[in-house]
Amino acid sequence: MARLLVTGGAGFIGSNFVHHVINHTDHHVTVLDKLTYAGNRASLVGLPQSRLTFIEGDVADSLSTDDLVADADAVVHFAAESHNDNSLNDPSPFLQTNIVGSFALLEAARRHRTRFHHVSTDEVYGDLALEDPMRFTESTPYNPSSPYSSTKAASDLLVRAWVRSFGVAATISNCSNNYGPYQHVEKFIPRQITNVLRGIRPKLYGEGRNVRDWIHADDHSAAVLMILEKGRLGDTYLIGADGEKDNKSVVELILHLMGQPADAYDHVKDRVGHDLRYAIDSSKLRDELGWQPIYRDFESGLAATIDWYRNHEDWWSPSKHATEALYAQYGQ
Ligand code: NAD
Ligand code: TYD
Repeated sequence: MARLLVTGGAGFIGSNFVHHVINHTDHHVTVLDKLTYAGNRASLVGLPQSRLTFIEGDVADSLSTDDLVADADAVVHFAAESHNDNSLNDPSPFLQTNIVGSFALLEAARRHRTRFHHVSTDEVYGDLALEDPMRFTESTPYNPSSPYSSTKAASDLLVRAWVRSFGVAATISNCSNNYGPYQHVEKFIPRQITNVLRGIRPKLYGEGRNVRDWIHADDHSAAVLMILEKGRLGDTYLIGADGEKDNKSVVELILHLMGQPADAYDHVKDRVGHDLRYAIDSSKLRDELGWQPIYRDFESGLAATIDWYRNHEDWWSPSKHATEALYAQYGQ
């Protein structure tokens, strides 16, 4: 049995990972989470208390996190400011958490020789043209566009430097856009589902031609666990499930699955610097470690996600009003 320190474990992907680890291993999990607007303790309710310890704290606070890293066999680092739109309105917390916070954890991992896995995004590679046959690979040059993706790129580079300069036993994964339960209603898919549930029309940025490569959060969790257990130290692995869809098709599918007319949505102001397309080639992860996605059919995964939001209004309702008020302020 191993002791995992999971940072950001009350967020969307972190909480899905904690559920996955508790359901599929006998590891003990300690969650370290600051409980920002994006963190929610309710996402961890129902898990066995004997397997889970929750600590409220900031990853950038090196004094209080040092002992936690020392006591862990491995750190799985999800904690981040994660929303591009927020990073355009106020980049400051993105630099603090994503860069300074990652630095503080890496220093603790160096001091205590703790295995470290850094969870990152494909957005560090910038974007691709719509008709480009290329997909991102582990050797694609970094070219981030937004304050969010540039701070994630910075943290990836810190991890690489701490591996090479100090011998920290780290791996990195860069995953594409996730969907599934426990995702904050600020993000594209849950925003549109909860809009429909509230009688608000879905909001599509610009023309909606932008493409994202969707993967279910549980498939992401399984990949991270596999890299933690079998990944080559110092290596980067891309995680993706061949799920490219343009935003307009996703909104239309949500409307269809929720019994609404296909055109019952609004076009709103586009995001500045909006990345056009992301696409992942995950051959390395599949060929070297044998990972495969379980959720291969986006429509059924999306239908299950819609059901989850329909049945968990108590989970998302408290943040819906403030989220929409913020979007209204920015004309989106
Ligand atoms: P999220 O915003 O839902 O959750 C982030 C969590 O981190 C929250 O619980 C928050 O309270 C916590 N947190 C924020 N600042 C903190 C700090 N200073 N100290 C401790 N905890 C802090 O984010 P998410 O979508 O679950 O993303 C998790 C990770 O996965 C991020 O590193 C993100 O870059 C990466 N990622 C996300 C996606 C995606 O589609 N959402 C895709 C690829 C990679
Ligand atoms: P988002 O969930 O914010 O993820 P990311 O910016 O990391 O890709 O957005 C996914 C896509 O959906 C992105 O192209 C922006 C677009 N989008 C909308 O069209 N409408 C919305 O209300 C939101 C939040 C996003």
